[in-house]
Amino acid sequence: MSGPQLNEVVLKDEELDLFNASLLDRLPNQRQENGLLVRPLRSTDYDKGFIQLLGQLTEVGSIAKEQFLNTFYKMKMAGSYYVVIVEDLDTGKVIGSSTLVVEQKFIHNCALSGRLEDVVVNSSYRGKQLGKLLVSTIAQLARRLQCYKLMLDCRDRLIPFYESLGFKQEPGNANSMKMRFETTAEQSRL
Ligand SMILES: CC(C)(COP(=O)(O)OP(=O)(O)OC[C@H]1O[C@@H](n2cnc3c(N)ncnc32)[C@H](O)[C@@H]1OP(=O)(O)O)[C@@H](O)C(=O)NCCC(=O)NCCS
Repeated sequence: MSGPQLNEVVLKDEELDLFNASLLDRLPNQRQENGLLVRPLRSTDYDKGFIQLLGQLTEVGSIAKEQFLNTFYKMKMAGSYYVVIVEDLDTGKVIGSSTLVVEQKFIHNCALSGRLEDVVVNSSYRGKQLGKLLVSTIAQLARRLQCYKLMLDCRDRLIPFYESLGFKQEPGNANSMKMRFETTAEQSRL
């Protein structure tokens, strides 16, 4: 493997962006307004409440800083993960997050397909259009990266939220199915 090794880069406490922040500068959405900054997830965000924020979305487990950094670095090396967060610059806390995962396909002339994942806004900041800001930023990013579509799964009650942002349930093609597996924490890391 070429490039920096995990212990050389992450364990030095160096501040790294998950992806190139200039990608966000070139989108129509503003990056900074009213003391809030939209930016890529950083390796230092463990200490800014990122994991606690995800806990408002689903069960997260107790993640040690080293596990967070290992996962961050795996995502960075893979190059297809775009975790976009909102930081409140007054408190230095991460108060919103959403993820674009870009999947390389063979179909459609080796096209790219995007998935929107893990959208969450801190409960004290909801109703201020931040969810909308995050989802529209992900949609703009997917378009900029030349994805031919952006998909998501959501709870029924959130269908109006996503419809208001341009997502559509396609007639005859709107089913989401899944198979769930029991895994130990050890297996799920493979
Ligand atoms: C869903 C969530 C991200 C929305 O964040 P938010 O910052 O409060 O949303 P916004 O303020 O941008 O709302 C934008 C619009 O969507 C509507 N909306 C927000 N949450 C909604 C909900 N649960 N159901 C229906 N509409 C909703 C708002 O009324 C608003 O409408 P308006 O533009 O007409 O005023 C936030 O409620 C959250 O983090 N929920 C818990 C985690 C979760 O369920 N994530 C989604 C997983 S699929």
